[in-house]
Amino acid sequence: MRHSLPDPDWPSAQEAAGSRLFSPLRVGSFTARTRAWVPAMVPWRAAEDGSVTPEVLAWYGRFAEGRPGVLVVEATGIRDIASGPLLRIGHERYLPGLRRLVETVRERSEGRTRLLIQLIDFLRIRRRPSRERFLGEFLEITDAHRRPGEDEAAVRERLLAASDVELRRLLSPREWEALEFGARERVTDTHLPHIAELPRILPPLFADAADRARRAGFDGVELHYAHAYTMASFLSRTNTREDGYGGSLEGRLRLPLEVYAAVRERVGHDYTVGCRLLGDEVIEGGSRIEDAVAYARALAAAGMDFLSISKGGKFEDARRPRVGEAAYPYTGPSGHECMPTVRIAAPGPFGRNLPLARSIRRAVRGDGRRTPIVAAGGIGSFALAEKALERGDCDLVAAARQSLADPDWWRKMELGRGCEVRRCEYTNYCEGLDQRHKEVTCRLWDRDWSRPDASGGISRSRDGRRRLLPPPWTP
Ligand SMILES: Cc1cc2nc3c(=O)[nH]c(=O)nc-3n(C[C@H](O)[C@H](O)[C@H](O)COP(=O)(O)O)c2cc1C
Ligand code: SF4
Repeated sequence: MRHSLPDPDWPSAQEAAGSRLFSPLRVGSFTARTRAWVPAMVPWRAAEDGSVTPEVLAWYGRFAEGRPGVLVVEATGIRDIASGPLLRIGHERYLPGLRRLVETVRERSEGRTRLLIQLIDFLRIRRRPSRERFLGEFLEITDAHRRPGEDEAAVRERLLAASDVELRRLLSPREWEALEFGARERVTDTHLPHIAELPRILPPLFADAADRARRAGFDGVELHYAHAYTMASFLSRTNTREDGYGGSLEGRLRLPLEVYAAVRERVGHDYTVGCRLLGDEVIEGGSRIEDAVAYARALAAAGMDFLSISKGGKFEDARRPRVGEAAYPYTGPSGHECMPTVRIAAPGPFGRNLPLARSIRRAVRGDGRRTPIVAAGGIGSFALAEKALERGDCDLVAAARQSLADPDWWRKMELGRGCEVRRCEYTNYCEGLDQRHKEVTCRLWDRDWSRPDASGGISRSRDGRRRLLPPPWTP
């Protein structure tokens, strides 16, 4: 079943001017000019050392031309450790590049877009090894594998000769997972000192990163408490840590609240600090909307300036990767809920996750708090955005893929030229590129060579086959 795109009901310029979508809203220390929000999207354009490249500047500059109320820079690592071409903010040396990024967005949006940066911590995940390397090299041989009198080489040889059925019996569930999916650390691996220590090391790391973001000129930070990453794993119902940072609801919330407190103490009260969290993890034994409502109420009570609601995107149900590749958290059922396509089950992708935002917003409002709630998931039309705001599902409307398909779509709507919007087809070609760590582009424009970039040329992907930026649009 393929769901067709809903009627966009594009507004006239006058209708846009009087709409909820294009009305301002206070978000912590700043006022967003409109309720239009571009959420974090990793485009794979950072340098190998995590610094800002000219391609990163061009990318965010292009989004800024659409003049959304708020633009969130991709998940940016808070540690000073090698993590491939993912943006980083874990050291002072990243500041000059990040400052240029802020300046670029200010210039290209003519000061109309407020800029946030998403701060992330993630645990180690290894690529899926070949059977030979895993059994011959990586697997730590213990007494559980050994037969009396066998030395290590003999054990490895026997395991290598075993059938899959036998091997599954001989390995522990974690060892089998490491073989089939690549080894993945969890917040519950408290036998590992660096995991046990997370509650001690993460608050200052997040605080330092937020302080750098402030000094770089960002209007605020979004703490990444969603999807497959460390902070979401602390919040998860699957977090059974027994050191006071897991188990009960209070235990699971403890580190997210301590991280927030450390950030707030560092950046002060006149700076926007919010977070992204999951309205539903969509995995067996994971947090559901009831948990998310409780998390959101506690985070809002602590003083978060906004709560951005996402869904799913977990490793637990990810598809088995090919040998040499890492598991990707958007490939299983929870991942499909995070970035729903036109092929997803009823009721289809459009505004699919709005009920989660609605429940959370209602509970937060019930506590007497006005914390802005951001909703995402298949919102790519004026009609749906306006309806979500009117119904009280959310206060700000986030559109990731529609903004990637056409970063000017907000501006086109504001100018009453919605019929010129290049509409996202929600078939996830872009997500496939992300999965393979290739520069993210959109199939609707990456082979359109008709118009050069603003620079005069056309910048191309590493393989030379795709253009890296949507063709320019002149109002
Ligand atoms: C290529 C790509 C990269 C993404 N990277 C991030 C990210 O860094 N952080 C995040 O919170 N969400 C990320 N997302 C999820 C989006 O922010 C958004 O929640 C999701 O795509 C659903 O919204 P949409 O239907 O408007 O696309 C990414 C999505 C895409 C397509
Ligand atoms: S590649 Fe497809 S899903 Fe991604 S933004 Fe473009 S049209 Fe939308």
